[in-house]
Amino acid sequence: MVIWLFWVLGSAPGGAPVPQPMLTILIWHWPFTNRPPELPGDTCAHYGMAGCRLSANRSLLASADAVVFHHRELETRRSRLPLDQRPRGQPWVWASMESPSNTHGLHHFRGIFNWVLSYRRDSDIFVPYGRLEPHSGPTPPLPVKSKMAAWVVSNFQERQQRAKLYRQLAPHLQVDVFGRASGRPLCANCLLPTVARYRFYLSFENSQHRDYITEKFWRNALAAGAVPVVLGPPRATYEAFVPPDAFVHVDDFSSARELAVFLVSMNESRYRGFFAWRDRLRVRLLGDWRERFCTICARYPYLPRSQVYEDLESWFQA
Ligand SMILES: *[C@@H]1O[C@H](CO)[C@@H](O)[C@H](O)[C@H]1NC(C)=O
Ligand SMILES: *[C@@H]1O[C@H](CO)[C@@H](O)[C@H](O)[C@H]1NC(C)=O
Repeated sequence: MVIWLFWVLGSAPGGAPVPQPMLTILIWHWPFTNRPPELPGDTCAHYGMAGCRLSANRSLLASADAVVFHHRELETRRSRLPLDQRPRGQPWVWASMESPSNTHGLHHFRGIFNWVLSYRRDSDIFVPYGRLEPHSGPTPPLPVKSKMAAWVVSNFQERQQRAKLYRQLAPHLQVDVFGRASGRPLCANCLLPTVARYRFYLSFENSQHRDYITEKFWRNALAAGAVPVVLGPPRATYEAFVPPDAFVHVDDFSSARELAVFLVSMNESRYRGFFAWRDRLRVRLLGDWRERFCTICARYPYLPRSQVYEDLESWFQA
């Protein structure tokens, strides 16, 4: 009798979850490519989110539970949104991981999108570039350090804040510059082992915006095993993601010279202190678009149903 009751309630005595209907998320443009990756039926189970399917098949527009539009393709291909075929009440998601400085044409999209997927913490679907997660077991050894500071930059423009700061730092600090802009490009698999030999990595964002912390911090510095020297949002934002002593913030210094002196004169025990978090935490990089889109399903039951971004541009610029 008891077992029968459990069955009716949809939960086995062992506590198996209630089966949910499969959600279909239609990806209108696969980000930065014309060819979507092969997607198995239950795509998101791979990321620990069952009952969720991503598809790039536009024939599913009439039936999809949500449709995602990645901003870059809306901008560059000037593609028209399928507004006249939109089923009534179908949630549309605006997705972008770029900062407002590199996002144009948002005024075209007034009153269209219901949800935002971005790195902004107040997004409906919040997808940071990385996070720290608990880990147990032995602390991984710190890479052997033989050099001072590294910076990888592919798009160097003098007007950028990061270029100005680099110019001010360079006379006082040995900074080795890599990447397209420097004439010393790094192959994809060379970045982490190269940076690992450096004590510090300049995690300078290309523009400074609310919550805009990218793989320059998570991957190039933290995952590589170098201390990030950050130029980006205020210190408090970084502290929402990592312990306060895991990075050096440029705002903590009154001049580039003072920052350089701090980095150069640091003793070994002070330096090791920046890695205290590695005893109990590890970096999880979240760069996979499939995982990002699967997050829509995880959030789906909690997302506001009747919300519309009347002025997406003002929201994003704020
Ligand atoms: C796209 O979806 C439609 C409708 O479900 C289906 O008939 C068609 O075979 C699909 N196309 C591809 C390439 O999977
Ligand atoms: C290393 O530097 C820190 C901070 O500047 C200082 O408090 C500490 O006493 C120094 N340790 C040694 C062994 O010199």
